Amino acid sequence: MQEKVIVLDFGGQYKQLIARRVRECNVYCEIHPHSIDLDVLKAMNPKGIILTGGPNSVYEAESPTYTAELFEAGIPILGICYGSQLMAYKTGGQVATAPTSEYGHTDLVIDAQDSLIFSDVNENTTCWMSHTDYIAKAPEGFRITAHTENCPVAAMENPEKKLYAVQFHPEVLHTPEGTKMLRHFVLDVCGCSGDWKMDSFVETTVKELREKIGSDRVLLGLSGGVDSTVAAVLLSKAIGKQLTCVFVDHGLMRKDEGDEVEAVFGPNGNFDLNFIRVNAGDLYFSRLAGVTDPEQKRKIIGELFVKVFGAEAKKLSDQGGFRYMAQGTIYPDVVESGAGNGGAVIKSHHNVGGLPKEMVVDLGFDETPIEPLRSLFKDEVRQAGLEMGIPRELVFRQPFPGPGLGVRVVGEVTPDKVRITQEADAIFREELEKAGVDTGKGQFFAALSNMRSVGVMGDGRTYDYAVVLRGVITSDFMTAEAAEIPWSVLQTCMTRIINEVKGVNRVFYDLTSKPPGTIEME
Ligand code: XMP
Repeated sequence: MQEKVIVLDFGGQYKQLIARRVRECNVYCEIHPHSIDLDVLKAMNPKGIILTGGPNSVYEAESPTYTAELFEAGIPILGICYGSQLMAYKTGGQVATAPTSEYGHTDLVIDAQDSLIFSDVNENTTCWMSHTDYIAKAPEGFRITAHTENCPVAAMENPEKKLYAVQFHPEVLHTPEGTKMLRHFVLDVCGCSGDWKMDSFVETTVKELREKIGSDRVLLGLSGGVDSTVAAVLLSKAIGKQLTCVFVDHGLMRKDEGDEVEAVFGPNGNFDLNFIRVNAGDLYFSRLAGVTDPEQKRKIIGELFVKVFGAEAKKLSDQGGFRYMAQGTIYPDVVESGAGNGGAVIKSHHNVGGLPKEMVVDLGFDETPIEPLRSLFKDEVRQAGLEMGIPRELVFRQPFPGPGLGVRVVGEVTPDKVRITQEADAIFREELEKAGVDTGKGQFFAALSNMRSVGVMGDGRTYDYAVVLRGVITSDFMTAEAAEIPWSVLQTCMTRIINEVKGVNRVFYDLTSKPPGTIEME
């Protein structure tokens, strides 16, 4: 039987990140809701369980909880953040509101370097904290294994019962030695052998898709981006020509991108797919006229997509109906849309939240779209893409959001503003390539601020837009840092953009990391 570690979800934003770190230790990992019954959980025979963080306070009646028997079951358990407080609360410790809540990078002192999870972790290290409650008193039988200035029980353990708890987040990269701690937990505490491999994802998923879809037909929204490309190839591996891909060109693509997508996926391209391109730019611009609110823009773009896509599906269904709609939703899309169990809505990704009613009622699609990449992060999607033999240049394309330049043009979206953004973006990318800047580890693009300001060009006054250049380095798109682009490259871009793109008289470089910013502007 396959060894597995189970992540029990208490509503935190990082549950997939925890699962992914466990997968990185070559241990298979599944996420289950905290509502799962203990007997069902035990029947899965987990080698270990990790309790996630969450936004609640353990002592409130409505908060997610779990029976105290879990902690007597003899299964190794690691509680993280809320999970650590729950462990303390349920085993006789005290949890209270911390006099000083901690958020962000925090110095951590390891008090017990002989702890299995802290062996070879530095005595003075850094961790990522995000909490208002804390463990005020460790339960009997537990020893305190780490502390911070404001958190007396930053980690505790009861090795006899194989119970471990950390107040901080070992799963995020801001805890530099966190992966080491998780590795110690799954390998040394849980005793996993660590021989599971990511490539079994493709194999298992193709098999599952084949079983689920049978002889039905599937329609996929293809944008040409990494996610939908990998989803298309996975599906085509599973069901061949039962798959039809529709590319809705909303006029908000990067410069020349619509034609490039068609060149790759169309009849003369790299894949043997049923591919259809729909040019809908005029419709999008007319509906976006006068709209400035970011969420409203996203909603309009998403709704129009459904409308255009639906109309196409209707036309195509004359040749026999479609049962399923498929899309390349990946995990960060799910979290940021607040669909991941009680999280906050950061921005509504157009492809999250189930199929719209009209597609189900009018067109007979199954309510639940097929989303084979829903549990993966971008770099895992890329890995799956490479394993299926998708060319590297497609796998490592700059990610591009579904709503396109609609979320890179701040404020109202007009054809002219889109033209400015496209041209500036093309110059920026061209210069980055010329200078040999490594763009593979993040996202580099131009956006358009909604700011116009006074300048002087030639001898005349200008009153034009400011272009924003943005470059971020990220591995999982959940957090990101501004990229260090050589000054000379930025200067060349500034000069070229102002000289060559009509309507621009200033160029900014965006230094904001995520958080507090997001990668896109809206
Ligand atoms: P943010 O701006 O949320 O971006 O920090 C994180 C990653 O997601 C992409 N993104 C989207 N992708 N539909 C998508 O398919 C969307 O609505 C959307 N919004 C952002 C963004 O480009 C980045 O890679």
